[in-house]
Amino acid sequence: KKVIFSAIQPSGTITLGNYLGALKNWVALQDDFDCIFALADLHTITVRQEPAKFRRNILEAYALLLACGIDVNKSLFFMQSHVHTHAELAWILNCYTQFGELSRMTQFKDKSAKHADNINAGLFTYPALMAADILLYQADLVPVGADQKQHLELTRNIAERFNGLYSPTFVVPDAYIPKNGARIMSLQDPTKKMSKSDENANGCIALLDKPEDIMRKFKRAVTDSDACVRYAEGKDGVNNLMGIYSAVTGRSFDEIEREFDGKGYGDFKAAVGEAVVEHLRPIQERYADYSKNKDYLEQCYRASAEKALAISLRTLRKVMKKIGYIL
Ligand code: TYM
Repeated sequence: KKVIFSAIQPSGTITLGNYLGALKNWVALQDDFDCIFALADLHTITVRQEPAKFRRNILEAYALLLACGIDVNKSLFFMQSHVHTHAELAWILNCYTQFGELSRMTQFKDKSAKHADNINAGLFTYPALMAADILLYQADLVPVGADQKQHLELTRNIAERFNGLYSPTFVVPDAYIPKNGARIMSLQDPTKKMSKSDENANGCIALLDKPEDIMRKFKRAVTDSDACVRYAEGKDGVNNLMGIYSAVTGRSFDEIEREFDGKGYGDFKAAVGEAVVEHLRPIQERYADYSKNKDYLEQCYRASAEKALAISLRTLRKVMKKIGYIL
């Protein structure tokens, strides 16, 4: 069986973009692959966190991902900070990653522009930690949204470099990016990706948003003056809504165009809102149960972390031995 690894940062609300770009695929892949998933809580402190809130966000994210359908009987799902090999391999890979490579990362450039008062070394070397996450488990495939593609390329380069310097050590992973949903855009500015840090809260749908808030945000979504539901260049707002509708209903773009033939944007936006509300309803119900059961959550993440440690130590030891360390 092929190995899948992916992770998400528990840095506040988890969005519809996270879900359609990544989480929905994680859930679907669990039956056919050996899946390993993590909350990337070491990555999260590259941006300053308030301790009590950070702790709540981690537990909320864990419960919410179980509610989305991550099943610890099929997959491993743990906190990155609970498995010490991640930080250890990250240090090693830092020494096999060039300053120039990290300088070219667009996420670093964006984040350092946005958090100009805290451009810390962790923010810069973030992709080396991400490479460690993936390479520790010899993952074949990494299901992510389009914004992580550049980090995946760097991971491949680091793996190939290490393999070339010593001998084959790491599996060189491929990104697994969905055809539809890989880049969900802000409902208020469809030229920007939907993001939890969007200044305009109306642009972003959180998985735990109340139905009335979801409906309101979709009804206010920015479209265009063409007044025709069709997928076309330059119709960023409509294209985005069609992408979301298609992802949650499984309908093709042709079917959607036929469904709304002769209808206005008002009807269309309400239909997209309703479809999203219905899709999220069972997730929100399960979340309400899981979030009450802290003991169960703890059992799940501790058991997964223990297994993940054993798997990842095999890779870490192999790496250290090749470099010349005395084990
Ligand atoms: P993060 O936490 O920013 O996002 C988690 C996943 O959601 C995807 N995503 C989106 N997909 C579609 N449309 C959007 N608007 C959208 N916004 C986010 C992301 O592509 C991602 O797949 N560095 C990673 C976390 C990470 C990781 C890893 C991922 C740490 N280690 C190892 C894969 C493998 C991140 O910050 O994702």
